[in-house]
Amino acid sequence: MENNISKIGVFTSGGDAPGMNAAIRAVVRSAIYYKKEVFGVMLGYDGMIAGDFVKLGARSVGNIIQRGGTILKSARSEQFRTKEGRKKAFENLKKNGIDSLVAIGGDGTFTGLKIFFEEFGIPSVCIPGTIDNDIAGTDYTIGFDTATNTAVEAIDKIRDTAISHNRLFFIEVMGRHSGYIGINCGIAGGAVATIIPEEDITIEQLFDKLDEGGKTNKKSSLVVVAEGSKIGSAMDLAKKFSERNNYFDIKVTILGHLQRGGTPTCFDRMLASKMGVAAVEGLIHGKSGTMIGIRSNQIVYNSFETIIHSKHDIDPEDVRISKILSI
Ligand code: F6P
Repeated sequence: MENNISKIGVFTSGGDAPGMNAAIRAVVRSAIYYKKEVFGVMLGYDGMIAGDFVKLGARSVGNIIQRGGTILKSARSEQFRTKEGRKKAFENLKKNGIDSLVAIGGDGTFTGLKIFFEEFGIPSVCIPGTIDNDIAGTDYTIGFDTATNTAVEAIDKIRDTAISHNRLFFIEVMGRHSGYIGINCGIAGGAVATIIPEEDITIEQLFDKLDEGGKTNKKSSLVVVAEGSKIGSAMDLAKKFSERNNYFDIKVTILGHLQRGGTPTCFDRMLASKMGVAAVEGLIHGKSGTMIGIRSNQIVYNSFETIIHSKHDIDPEDVRISKILSI
């Protein structure tokens, strides 16, 4: 089944992720390859509601494959949650002849697009772009690889100073409700413990582990805490542990938004390029209402129904490995 589309609107929405620009470039260039016009929608759904569109050509996306952030800017739109906002967005698209959409973002973006697709029937395809890697239907989301590499590089640096001063660091990483970034940083950064929302560990169990290290002459340690931790933030845990510990000098580092920026890795550029082409080809071949995924290195199209309200679970094997290696 072919879709008779001629003008594609592309936008980024939700938290930015390194590699989004590479995805925009791939969408624009493959659309032009297939003789379609492309418009960039600025600032995600907010730009759609404001009618902020910019025509993109092959040259407008030159020199961006290596850049972090998103040239189209991004937002988490409150207005698009309202029927009125979505109606306005649709009218603007119609006025500008935009007859199909490619959204690059995370679960909030897809939920918005699913509703929009059901209300107005505009052919739409999503590309998963978020550092959290928490989207069902894909092994990887764009930005996760870069963000974890950025975080691990920072953790390595913290380790140098931790060892020099015999210190215990609690390092907080992003991931919202997902422990994907956390478990990867914990294993690759050599943490003594990794606290993720998916795993039930009590504060007592964590502190016993740290005490054990203290008793066995462990002079410095790193604890990775995912921001979704159910037993407290890095700051909370450090404060509580300092009340009972008398051997470690304790410090806290919250890596925060530095994980979102920077030059995308080769992996993220490749992923973004493959997904961008797949999105345009999917639109042309009538695969609307889907999100592109990569499973076992193969591109797949997931229906909105199968990915919304589901989550990409972390691999229990990674949790097991992290325990074996953190003695
Ligand atoms: O979804 C990406 C992410 O960076 C999460 O890891 C984090 O919880 C959230 O966005 C932060 O959002 P904001 O940039 O709006 O503070």
